[in-house]
Amino acid sequence: MSDKQGSGKPVSRRHFMGTAAAAALAATAAPRAFGQAASPNERIGAGFIGCGGRSGAHMQAVNWLKDHGVNVEMVAACDVYRPRLNKAVEKYKMPKAYMDHRELLADPNVDVVFIATPDHHHAYAAIDAVQAGKDVYCEKPVTHWRQFELTKRLAQEVTKSGRVFQLGTQGMSDGAYHQMRKLVKDGLIGQPIHAECGYFRVGDWGERGMPIDDPNAVPGPDLNWEAFLGDSPKRPFDISRFFRWRMYEDYAGGPSTDLFPHSLTPVMSILGVKWPSSAVATGGKFRSEEREIPDTFNMLMDFPEKITVAVLGTQGNDYQGAGGGRGAPGRVPIVRGWDGSLTIQDKEVVFIPADGSDKKPQRFPIEQNEDFTEYVRNFLNCCREKNTATQSPVDLAYYTQTALIMGMLALREGKTAKFDLQTETIVI
Ligand SMILES: NC(=O)c1ccc[n+]([C@@H]2O[C@H](COP(=O)([O-])OP(=O)(O)OC[C@H]3O[C@@H](n4cnc5c(N)ncnc54)[C@H](O)[C@@H]3O)[C@@H](O)[C@H]2O)c1
Repeated sequence: MSDKQGSGKPVSRRHFMGTAAAAALAATAAPRAFGQAASPNERIGAGFIGCGGRSGAHMQAVNWLKDHGVNVEMVAACDVYRPRLNKAVEKYKMPKAYMDHRELLADPNVDVVFIATPDHHHAYAAIDAVQAGKDVYCEKPVTHWRQFELTKRLAQEVTKSGRVFQLGTQGMSDGAYHQMRKLVKDGLIGQPIHAECGYFRVGDWGERGMPIDDPNAVPGPDLNWEAFLGDSPKRPFDISRFFRWRMYEDYAGGPSTDLFPHSLTPVMSILGVKWPSSAVATGGKFRSEEREIPDTFNMLMDFPEKITVAVLGTQGNDYQGAGGGRGAPGRVPIVRGWDGSLTIQDKEVVFIPADGSDKKPQRFPIEQNEDFTEYVRNFLNCCREKNTATQSPVDLAYYTQTALIMGMLALREGKTAKFDLQTETIVI
């Protein structure tokens, strides 16, 4: 997760290369560049929904930006487990603590919300937020894998509201992918035909390794089990489900929805595609038995533009493939077109001409590595400017999550999942 630079700035797995390079990214990404100052006049009140592990990174980044000239204030937090809520508001001296996100949304001092609850709550909180007139930073995956209709509704509600929305995917905070998107759009690889990406890591520390804060915790005024369950199947309280929810299919999806949003979102953005026409998947519990969700997941998708995308992942080995080495666990993508391929080698985006092409090999220095704090700054700038063209907008989240849900359903049913463009529905 994030760690610290010498300046105390929270950084992601990859090192931030500098503001000059960040400014250059403006040409390839959303209208507002990373690192570029917005009008300091408007104070933004930030609220945080979910106060667990990921929210810690959100709060740390917002706090750092506040201490470094961004006019943002941490005004409220919400969690269904009071000890975590209290810890967060005490640490950052936030004036308000809520155990119901609707109460936080009714707080007039909250302008934007950062959502970091378990997956199945993201879209409900986000829809409530935009309807309450708040801008939204929402963690990936944008929804749970059984919530396709909700994903669609979220995209509609956000668009209708005109509010700003940015999905929390590490990949979209990486300048390399925005450069690749521009190169593909400019025609360097010709007609895109094929891409591969994925996510490899060792162990299920993201699932079984989740901390159980208090083994004696029980539902009551300080732990709202019903609110945790939300729209998932009703069950009696279970300490493991509450704290280690990523192990269970009611609340999580494994590598597909937990890890692939980081690598597939940028690839779909680079290709400029929407919904796949079909998807198949393989995988299962190949290494870890003490969990419901798969640890191995591989999917193949075709898009109507006659593009195939392969997404691969295991939690048994973290080798990223040739050209990796940037320190990130996301597999380095390869995007192939009629004229050549684009990939990343260390600190460069690399173009390799296809056999028979008269184009020359090219290398492009990566202008900015993955940087979560700058990604949050970009979001806040967009909120201040009412600019909905964030680095990872809601329509991209909808397309990517549809693809991942199709993969999940294909694996579970052992069938090919198809997408009906006329009705915008998944057919399996
Ligand atoms: N972008 C990334 O790199 C990254 C990294 C880690 C996690 N995440 C995402 O962040 C989300 C949270 O993951 P985490 O590791 O922080 O989990 P976590 O369990 O540590 O934190 C989730 C918190 O939400 C609270 N919660 C549960 N239901 C709630 C509700 N209805 N309202 C308010 N709070 C509620 C829980 O009590 C818990 O404190 C997940 O969706 C995960 O996929 C993203």
